[in-house]
Amino acid sequence: MLIRNSFVKDIDQIIKIGSETDLSIWTTDDYKNEFIRSDAVCFTALDDDIVAGFLHGRFGISAASGKNIFELHNIAVKKQFWNKGFGSALLTELIAECCKYDTLSIILNVRISNDQAIAFYKKYAFTEVSRVKDLYSNPAEDGFLMSCRL
Ligand SMILES: CC(C)(COP(=O)(O)OP(=O)(O)OC[C@H]1O[C@@H](n2cnc3c(N)ncnc32)[C@H](O)[C@@H]1OP(=O)(O)O)[C@@H](O)C(=O)NCCC(=O)NCCS
Repeated sequence: MLIRNSFVKDIDQIIKIGSETDLSIWTTDDYKNEFIRSDAVCFTALDDDIVAGFLHGRFGISAASGKNIFELHNIAVKKQFWNKGFGSALLTELIAECCKYDTLSIILNVRISNDQAIAFYKKYAFTEVSRVKDLYSNPAEDGFLMSCRL
């Protein structure tokens, strides 16, 4: 298993994983633009040469504290690799990256029905901060805002 920065050559496999795990749809151009942003972190998890998972998100400044926070936009692992530690490896690498930049917390949104992801986040000390009504569409659903203090 290897975690590294995402490259353009990963994008087709990243999009396939996003589609099989029902994540919000990002196009090839969306990813290309994201990979070159200075405030973005985009990691790919590899099993040999196969893209097994990915994550991406952006640094920002908390309006409340004026400190760095990181918003995780997506994390997903190819189904055949679930429960083998790829998600944990991606998140652990992200936490290390956030610590380099003195980041106060990582925040994210998750569908309230996504028990698997919620259990995953709770293992890494994320807590539910609030419930946001109708955050998601197709299908419509509330979301939890979750946060992990670093
Ligand atoms: C959430 C996700 C990234 C986890 O990736 P993963 O590689 O399977 O996770 P890991 O193998 O590192 O598991 C770590 C922990 O997550 C939790 N977890 C993972 N799958 C779980 C499940 N089906 N049910 C309950 N807990 C689960 C467990 O606490 C597990 O720790 P353990 O092995 O000690 O029990 C993966 O399930 C996924 O891609 N889901 C679909 C996409 C998605 O919903 N992303 C989140 C969008 S907000």
